Amino acid sequence: MTHRSPTPSAPHPSFPRQAPVDEQLTFLLGYAVMAPSGHNTQPWQFSVHDSSVWLYVDPARTLPALDPGGRERIMSCGAALFHFRIAMRHVGVTPEVHWFPDRETEDAVAHMHDVEQGRKALARISMGERMEPTLTDETLFSAIQRRRTHREAFEDETVPTSDLNRLQDAAATEGATLEILSDAEQCSRLLDLVVRANEDMLADADVRRELAEWTASASDDAGVAGSTRGWSRWQTLSAGWLQALPGLGPDPWQRETAAIRNAPVLAVLTTTEDDVAAWLRAGQALDHVLLRATSYGLGASFLNQPVKVPRLRQEVRSLCRDDAWPQIVLRMGVATTQEPKSGRRPIPIRKD
Ligand SMILES: Cc1cc2nc3c(=O)[nH]c(=O)nc-3n(C[C@H](O)[C@H](O)[C@H](O)COP(=O)(O)O)c2cc1C
Repeated sequence: MTHRSPTPSAPHPSFPRQAPVDEQLTFLLGYAVMAPSGHNTQPWQFSVHDSSVWLYVDPARTLPALDPGGRERIMSCGAALFHFRIAMRHVGVTPEVHWFPDRETEDAVAHMHDVEQGRKALARISMGERMEPTLTDETLFSAIQRRRTHREAFEDETVPTSDLNRLQDAAATEGATLEILSDAEQCSRLLDLVVRANEDMLADADVRRELAEWTASASDDAGVAGSTRGWSRWQTLSAGWLQALPGLGPDPWQRETAAIRNAPVLAVLTTTEDDVAAWLRAGQALDHVLLRATSYGLGASFLNQPVKVPRLRQEVRSLCRDDAWPQIVLRMGVATTQEPKSGRRPIPIRKD
């Protein structure tokens, strides 16, 4: 496969170099919000002051049925953080990241609860030393605009092992592991779990309601466009009331299920721990993998339904090495089509 050559870009033409630091940081947040997020909820919020960006969970953007523990919400914030780090490097600044910065209490559990509710920050990011962006930084930066979640089938083409190795390196750099399943028996077991999880989840009225709630039209600024799930305009518009009746609503995973058995690559992103810090790392690792995959002309879609059902998550876990915690299941391959850009709301800056 031919790799798209990374074009070393000149420093961003419209980056406001002469503006105050807070204005520069706000400009760069325009890249953070292009990150992927569960059901395109964009569950992040920012505060910009004292020459720093504070990253928070947006408590109004939860998925109580689809993501009850908020794990994917934190991962989505991690993805936005990785986009932001890359945008900073692109304009020649080293990102300085302080994790869980505003801890005032000795009670770690209470503090993490506040973080998960958006009362305390996940991270504070400020501008460190000036630096020259590397070729890798520029490659990842240029992939930000092209990356999309690819829900269609992939080309019947093998992905070179060297590309897969580099995707694994990307995950490792962020403190996670990308396990590529190569054993046919293992792949088949994982795909069975995906099908079982789809059935389990669609039997739950709250899940169906939430899926409908976050189904959007192409022009909406949040939610997943029905068209990218293979739904007609009519199915998208009627999803809300059709989902109330089991078996009648359109299947949100119909495309993935149809293509499930011919995934060129199946991968599970794992972490050794399973807490807020691990989810934040996993989100950055996921985003690093996705941007790098984009730069190789690879697309990725998510099959993480079995990770959302605790009983089935244990079964996915048994397929992974070293008793690691599965966070995301990906189907990857060569993508020759590009899905339309999904909507984004304006940068959510809170007034602290
Ligand atoms: C943590 C996380 C979980 C996700 N889970 C799913 C999923 O289960 N199914 C799916 O189709 N897309 C999933 N996505 C992809 C989002 O739906 C997608 O990022 C969002 O709709 C925005 O579209 P874009 O990625 O094309 O920008 C997930 C993304 C993240 C970050």
